Amino acid sequence: MTDNYSIVSGGVYPELADNIAKELHQNPLKVELKRFANGERYVRYEESVRQKNLFIVQSFSENNGYSLNDAFVELLLLIDAARRASAQEITVVLPILPYARQDRKARNREPISASVILRTLEMMGVNRIITIDLHSPQTQAIFCHPFDHLVAEPIISKSLRKLTKDDPSSYLLVSPDAGRAKETEAYAEELNLDYVHLPKARNRDDSSKIKRPTQIEGVKDKKCIIIDDMIDTGGTLITAAETLKNSGAKDIILATTHGILSNNAAERFRDSSVSKLFIIDTISQSHNKEILGDKLEIIPVAPLIAKSIKCIAAGESLAFLFNDKNNK
Ligand code: R5P
Repeated sequence: MTDNYSIVSGGVYPELADNIAKELHQNPLKVELKRFANGERYVRYEESVRQKNLFIVQSFSENNGYSLNDAFVELLLLIDAARRASAQEITVVLPILPYARQDRKARNREPISASVILRTLEMMGVNRIITIDLHSPQTQAIFCHPFDHLVAEPIISKSLRKLTKDDPSSYLLVSPDAGRAKETEAYAEELNLDYVHLPKARNRDDSSKIKRPTQIEGVKDKKCIIIDDMIDTGGTLITAAETLKNSGAKDIILATTHGILSNNAAERFRDSSVSKLFIIDTISQSHNKEILGDKLEIIPVAPLIAKSIKCIAAGESLAFLFNDKNNK
């Protein structure tokens, strides 16, 4: 790939594409995006994309008048228009991969939705995907072209190191469920902190119902930091915070890559015993910031994405961005 590349922004979170482009000393390409009265989407590149390497940025959340599925259709239209207008290479930058949690058949007669998304992108002629902190890293196997799986661990660790460095023994990392145990251990090693695992069981018919022990040992008087890949309804972390509080934790801090905070999660965290949330802005956090105020510390993702685009465009390795930690 030459450095003849341009940033294209989908309509869900244009500020993110603007920030990425700014880091790269560019402006995003001019694109017309609109919604017809019947709900269908329309896109048109307002300048030539012939022989250009395009990085199409689309975030996935209910933002800016988009549903998640609208966002996906718009992305497909941007890919199709770019192909038909002779773009050279198309990279889609999906800071959060939609449907990533539906990565296996948990019950009979279910789809594997993550596979539907990735196979559709492949079929549309996407040459490369960039995403961050996949729910399960093996999901990238579905897409048979280059897949740059960025990890947020170095930027989350940077914020947590600042927080814990003066008194590390007063902090404890907590993994919110078995799925995050390995990840939490890696953070513990990086930050030189102790860790505990918190048991969690979900109701099979209603995944929003979570069972936790009322109390666990070893957290009394500790400042507990729970790290998760995403907060959606907040059920996982609100229940974790309750258990920690009941067990005598002194403080509860959360860190996550994808802060979806659907339903009234932001209000619930505002009113909870959680004192601080660190969230990377893979999706817009402006609504959450209004509700959470100083409780929310937003870690910008644009510099990480911009650096990766710069390396890809120059044909250079990305490994230095995450100390080779994206192979977990
Ligand atoms: C679960 O396996 C994930 O790592 C997250 O803990 C989960 O998806 C968060 O969802 P919610 O906030 O709705 O509990």
